[in-house]
Amino acid sequence: MACVEMRGITKRFGAVLANDAVSITVDRGEILSLLGENGSGKSTLVNILAGLYAPDAGTLSIDGRECRFRSPRDAIAAGVGMVHQHFMLVPVLRAWENICLGERAKSPFLQKKAICRKIDGIAKKFGIAINLEKKIYDMSVGEKQTVEIVKMLYRGAQTLILDEPTAVLTPQETETLFAMLRFMRGAGCAIIIITHKLAEVLAISDRITVLRRGRTAGTVRAAEATARSLSAMMVGESISLEIDRPPPRPSEAPMLRVRGLSVTSREGTPLLRSLSFDLSGGELLGVAGLAGNGQKELCEAIAGLQKRFSGSVTFLGEELAGLSPRAIRRRGVCLSFIPEDRLGMGLVGGMSVTDNVLLRGYDLSAGPLVDRARAREAAERIVKKYDIATPTVNHMVRKLSGGNIQKVLLGRELETRPRLLITAYPVRGLDVGASYAIYHLINAQKAAGVAVLFIGEDLDVLLALSDRLLILCEGAAMGIVDPRAVTKEDVGLMMLGRKEAACG
Ligand SMILES: Nc1ncnc2c1ncn2[C@@H]1O[C@H](COP(=O)(O)OP(=O)(O)OP(=O)(O)O)[C@@H](O)[C@H]1O
Ligand SMILES: [Mg+2]
Repeated sequence: MACVEMRGITKRFGAVLANDAVSITVDRGEILSLLGENGSGKSTLVNILAGLYAPDAGTLSIDGRECRFRSPRDAIAAGVGMVHQHFMLVPVLRAWENICLGERAKSPFLQKKAICRKIDGIAKKFGIAINLEKKIYDMSVGEKQTVEIVKMLYRGAQTLILDEPTAVLTPQETETLFAMLRFMRGAGCAIIIITHKLAEVLAISDRITVLRRGRTAGTVRAAEATARSLSAMMVGESISLEIDRPPPRPSEAPMLRVRGLSVTSREGTPLLRSLSFDLSGGELLGVAGLAGNGQKELCEAIAGLQKRFSGSVTFLGEELAGLSPRAIRRRGVCLSFIPEDRLGMGLVGGMSVTDNVLLRGYDLSAGPLVDRARAREAAERIVKKYDIATPTVNHMVRKLSGGNIQKVLLGRELETRPRLLITAYPVRGLDVGASYAIYHLINAQKAAGVAVLFIGEDLDVLLALSDRLLILCEGAAMGIVDPRAVTKEDVGLMMLGRKEAACG
């Protein structure tokens, strides 16, 4: 008897059929991956299992007993817990306080000592390392995720759902999470995980259920699957997993010159240490590094968003220091930074696609009146060109699937026809097909003579796409290498602080 069984689940949102008679099962001691293109219905399905949505049709049973969840509280009472991508933790509280939050409200005299002893017991049972005294705001993304997981286990979850938990993790943090999940599997948990990264799907799952346009395309054993067979199941045809690298045609003089660029935090910690490099038009410079090693500060310094910097940044011979972000943008510098929280930067979830396009400050104003017709036109062009799945351009951005939200963000930036494109994590959360579409778009920008600074997290992609690759560690350049001539291992070592000369 399977621990969790969902049969014939159907769910509509207005005209959208998000789940169409979908069935999955998960056993105790098993890890099931859900795989599928953006908008194929993965989040909807697990949200139903977690009690957030009620299905229109279909049944759900836990340990053979049919359940009807009216809220996440019902789901947790039945042993089903979900770790959300947007963490639901209180930043000023400590780990242990967050973990027992709901429970303490009910019985305020619960002793801290007893609580912590119970949490420690759970952590030990599931092989989890956690610092109970640490405050949430001092934690890395990976640590926060661990608190969320322990919170669910503390409430008695035996089935754990994780919706794209690795999208925001460094490769090391992903490894730690996977080790934890394997341990939990060994301890008898049933685990459902969603990720777009095929290598991760193959590494972590026992079985994989593929969704296609709201329907079950099939379930396979991971041991019998390959990246190729899975991507074919996802889209219904075989797709190429090769990444193009069109030959660079560098402009005569570099477009962007960075010299001795340093950034310090408010507290005086160096975040970027005397960085120097050139970037020509028609060239793609990749930037590799573990998240939080100066990438954000580099982007901000060039785009005029970072005031605490020294050194020089010139674009087409003009010093950018001192110019406003708006003035820099008008010179053709476009920054598209996909944050960990996709709705955090630059998009307003409660507004329509059109209004979000307007927000970017297209030159659409006709005197005192904003030209809505032109904004609408621009939005429709973007939706078509970037293949964004939305009923209309008046649809609220928050209601789109994660991947489609992101395409709105990137499409809107590319439509401003930049001369220097700084793009950070452009495929975060995108499905395989959409990721390749984005690589293609970025290559097209390069071929058209745009200087491209590509900040990425997937080393395979960086090595395949870049003309040159800059490696950052703790804000310093470890070297600029030829991606055709280095090994992945060498780049990995440099990301951890080894200088270029020490490798190879
Ligand atoms: N609350 C909602 N209101 C209206 N439509 C919704 C809502 N939630 C999801 N949808 C729609 O249902 C479909 C399935 O969305 P879902 O979020 O389940 O996809 P997904 O497979 O998780 O995609 P992604 O990989 O991009 O996260 C999409 O077309 C989406 O726009
Ligand atoms: Mg989703």
